[in-house]
Amino acid sequence: MTAIRGATTVNCDTPEEIKGAVKELLQTIKEKNNLSLCDIVCVMLSNTADIHSYYPAKAAREAGFDGCALYSSSEPLIDGALPLCIRVMVLCDSHFKPSYVYLRGAAKLRKDITEPLVVALDGPAGSGKSTAAKALAKHFNILYLDTGAMYRACALKCLNCGVKIEENTVKPVIENINLKIEYEDGRQVTILDGKDVSEDIRRPEVSDMASRVSALPCVRQKMVEMQRKIASSMSCVVDGRDIGTNVLPDAEHKFYVTASVQVRATRRYLENKAKGFDTPYETVEAEIAARDKRDMEREVAPLKMAEDATLVDTSDMTAEQAVQYIIDKIQEKI
Ligand code: DC
Repeated sequence: MTAIRGATTVNCDTPEEIKGAVKELLQTIKEKNNLSLCDIVCVMLSNTADIHSYYPAKAAREAGFDGCALYSSSEPLIDGALPLCIRVMVLCDSHFKPSYVYLRGAAKLRKDITEPLVVALDGPAGSGKSTAAKALAKHFNILYLDTGAMYRACALKCLNCGVKIEENTVKPVIENINLKIEYEDGRQVTILDGKDVSEDIRRPEVSDMASRVSALPCVRQKMVEMQRKIASSMSCVVDGRDIGTNVLPDAEHKFYVTASVQVRATRRYLENKAKGFDTPYETVEAEIAARDKRDMEREVAPLKMAEDATLVDTSDMTAEQAVQYIIDKIQEKI
């Protein structure tokens, strides 16, 4: 007999969500353990007390797990436990080394489930880290914190004020900055002085200015404080330049995502073009090289790979391949 454990989460307590999550969980358990339905003797499911609207066992039956014994129960409320969580134990008739499956942020079972999943992604501009971070956050059903957007908002504030980019002139502006990071349908919204600036901060002149202001200690101190506060409150994927080395040095999952300057410049050039910014390729490449140099050579928290990070060179990878590579590395650890 072999027992395979697994867990997943749902966004809300609805039959559709539960059906989708249970089906995905059971199919993944089947695939990862090379099972056919006739190997399975029993499926036992339990859900946290905040799930009422649908019995996960019914979803399992609908997903084709109807030839084995099914059992479903609701758990008592446990302080600090991951909300909207469904756990499963699949019993099989044969003996083998099981692969456990934890999806959508349900990293571990029982008391360990309260440990947040924190993924730190660092790397230069255009490396594909923000695309990967968004996809990872979606996969694990956790928050995505784009710290570059915060430095970009500081840059926009400085541009709007026309302030000289020096520690003593920028300090009073940043100390009183009215910056809020909010989430709408899982998308990060950057609010500066009460206005949604999520689009504005992507302008090329803001990119350049962000690299300049982010080198100032007063800006880093304020932003790092805000980032740690956000990241300490929940499971998240955080991307930036100094996340694994400085902001969250204790993060369990750290990746350094990079690619050649030419590949990165081509990506940024195409992105800009799609947004209607008509900057020539040569200019984009020169800007990326200049930003790399500034980000890597600045005195405070320069861009560098943390010693315990995994290198992901995306030069010859599609976005999907890079994401899958990172997911596999995370799953190996949890
Ligand atoms: O990732 P991005 O292009 O949005 O970042 C904009 C700038 O902000 C980048 O040139 C360097 C800076 N940055 C930083 O110094 N530290 C971070 N954690 C994130 C971004």
